[in-house]
Amino acid sequence: MRDPLPGDALRNILPEVRELGAYTLKATEARIKLNQNESPHDLPEPLKREILERTARRPWNRYPDFHPEDVLQGLGQLHGLGARNVLLGNGSNELIQAIFTATVGHGQAVALPVPTFTLYAMMVRANQGTVREIPLLPNLAYDIRAWTDEADRGEAHLLLCSPNNPTGSRISPHHVDDLCQRTPRLVIVDEAYAQFGDDDHSTLLQRHPNLIVLRTFSKAVGLAGARLGYALAHEELSREIGKVKLPYNVGLFGLEIVRTVLRHPELLHGHATELRAARNALRASLEELPLEQVHPGFANFILFRTPHAADLFHFLLERGILVRDVGRYPMLRDCLRVSIGTPEENAEFLDAVRQFLAQKQDAP
Ligand SMILES: Cc1ncc(COP(=O)(O)O)c(C=O)c1O
Repeated sequence: MRDPLPGDALRNILPEVRELGAYTLKATEARIKLNQNESPHDLPEPLKREILERTARRPWNRYPDFHPEDVLQGLGQLHGLGARNVLLGNGSNELIQAIFTATVGHGQAVALPVPTFTLYAMMVRANQGTVREIPLLPNLAYDIRAWTDEADRGEAHLLLCSPNNPTGSRISPHHVDDLCQRTPRLVIVDEAYAQFGDDDHSTLLQRHPNLIVLRTFSKAVGLAGARLGYALAHEELSREIGKVKLPYNVGLFGLEIVRTVLRHPELLHGHATELRAARNALRASLEELPLEQVHPGFANFILFRTPHAADLFHFLLERGILVRDVGRYPMLRDCLRVSIGTPEENAEFLDAVRQFLAQKQDAP
């Protein structure tokens, strides 16, 4: 089936979809994987066993709970909210898709920071919405005035990623509070990396019926492989978005994982304290090196710029260290993003960067 598609079959695909670039990540094997902002720490073996045993006791021939009240209630309680305020997703990505399916059908605009996580724009466009780009400032901070103006126009939904991927920039709850008051549109805050910073935008949900907050188990909780995330919103908003979320989107295995995490709430924070400290230490070390810029971010990664980014990427890869080349994102020419790993991995990464820069300096 590798021949070109005959006839006009491709015309059946919507133009908005054909224009999209596919969301891809080159599957490069590496000994030290610092390219996807995952946790370097796996779930402890006894907890994995607990999940497997509990899952084994469930009937696999039956659909999972249609409305897993205990799970939704447990997640809601973490934020002082109820079960009806929670939507559970197969990763928060699925909820991003559901939110835009429910909200942007007829050319509705969504304002996005630039640069940010690429999936937002893809999902807006795939749902026939339009994107308004609000560039970060040259120092990669949120441009509060531009966001305030956009909120005052009241035309576009606002999506804020805080801390932002791939820059680590944050927007404060104080500013989000203000934006929610200014606009009748939705304000969506993706807090995938919340545990690595100091902000918790979910505290604003009691005050703002137009706010949606997204959380994931893929980063601090360290369960990227399980594909679990959730959205928090006013119960009526949550009910409407829930209509376009597929039924039984999280299987019985995923539900048992959430139950286990809720029984061991320390898992929600994961190793975030250790990883934050490691991030700050690594950043301080990188700042001492002759790099062009090391960006101060609030997530479990560091963004830095060097005119030798492409060479450094390959130098690291040859030593088994995979980072993310984000040089093609707007504003991020010559930038690499490195996730925080174990102490040994961070040390090896730092050593390799030092070696590379020393070689560059020695070169005539
Ligand atoms: C900002 C942001 N949101 C969401 C996700 C994906 O989350 P999930 O694994 O829950 O789908 C990522 C993953 O990299 C991300 O960076």
